[in-house]
Amino acid sequence: MPLFLPHFNLQKLNTLAVPAVANFYVAVHDDDELREALTFACTENLPLLVLGGGSNIVLRADFPGVVIQLKSQGKEVVAEDEHFVWLKVAAGENWHHLVEYTLDNALYGLENLSLIPGSVGAAPIQNIGAYGVEVKDLITELSALEIRSGIVVNFTNESCRFDYRDSIFKQALKDQYVITSVTFRLRKTAQLNLSYPALRDTLAGLDNPSPQAVSEAVIGIRQSKLPDPALTPNVGSFFKNPIINLAQLQVLRTTYPDIVSYPVDTVRVKLAAGWLIDRAGWRGKEAAGAKVHAQQALVLTNPDRASGARVLALAELIQQSVRAQFGVTLEMEPRVYP
Ligand code: EPU
Repeated sequence: MPLFLPHFNLQKLNTLAVPAVANFYVAVHDDDELREALTFACTENLPLLVLGGGSNIVLRADFPGVVIQLKSQGKEVVAEDEHFVWLKVAAGENWHHLVEYTLDNALYGLENLSLIPGSVGAAPIQNIGAYGVEVKDLITELSALEIRSGIVVNFTNESCRFDYRDSIFKQALKDQYVITSVTFRLRKTAQLNLSYPALRDTLAGLDNPSPQAVSEAVIGIRQSKLPDPALTPNVGSFFKNPIINLAQLQVLRTTYPDIVSYPVDTVRVKLAAGWLIDRAGWRGKEAAGAKVHAQQALVLTNPDRASGARVLALAELIQQSVRAQFGVTLEMEPRVYP
């Protein structure tokens, strides 16, 4: 039976360092412990929060329920051919440690996703992405335990309905499954993705960069723009980059010729939310006890370890001002509890 800790302060378990208290906290190490924790929450009729690294959540207030943290560990080669290795990884593994492990074992594909905070099981939920790669490009399948029945189900890549910072686990199946393992198809010979301009520029001096060099370059770029959550509490990008119609972009361009956009398809573009927030005058500003990061306006920080409600109040002010200036709605990226 896993240990249920009552009245548990979650401040160290969320990278925004919000001082919220949960009725119960329980760490689980395998599917059976997870089922026991779920049964407890169900019997006591308490809401659930399944936590990985706590790097993509905002605790608006104390959590009146059971916080379950996945601590399962393990990596297993489940298949291999001439070009690829299929690696099945337990959900509780740390994401960046996995990236390092793959590079140390000459397995390639995750290098652009270096230094992203969080756990392996959380990565597919929001389809983490950076520097031209999204985790959906590497996932072949995953297993997830249905909360209602305790049954473990396999999801193919397609059935996860991955999209930009999105998956079925944030939509139709929200809060219905706990991801327990993820299977990645990794290359034996690297095929680098240097599509992201800053990455290409950083590596410009190297003739034939190695995947390790790509990883180091990504780490360098991240460290120059993104605050280290261990020192300055944050959850990375606080908003998604908004997707708008090409026609709306053309109107915006007449006033803002330097607006940053990326094509999505023939009729839609993605705007850089960081650029919008910056141009609305928020970069480096402080309000409601929280702060807009000076090197990247898309990141909100919580230097005084204030309440989640305060950070959300700043987010709301930013949303209002971006809407007023550009007519664009910013959708929050992290999940808000309770
Ligand atoms: N920009 C500004 N001012 C700012 C911030 C950005 O003008 O304060 C401009 C930049 O100059 C650039 C553009 O906006 O032209 C985009 O900025 P950046 O390249 O830093 O990337 P992003 O679109 O802001 C996204 C992801 C990041 C990911 C980077 C790199 C989202 C929501 N964020 O940020 O992911 O690391 O691209 O691929 O898609 C995260 O999700 O937590 C995260 C950090």
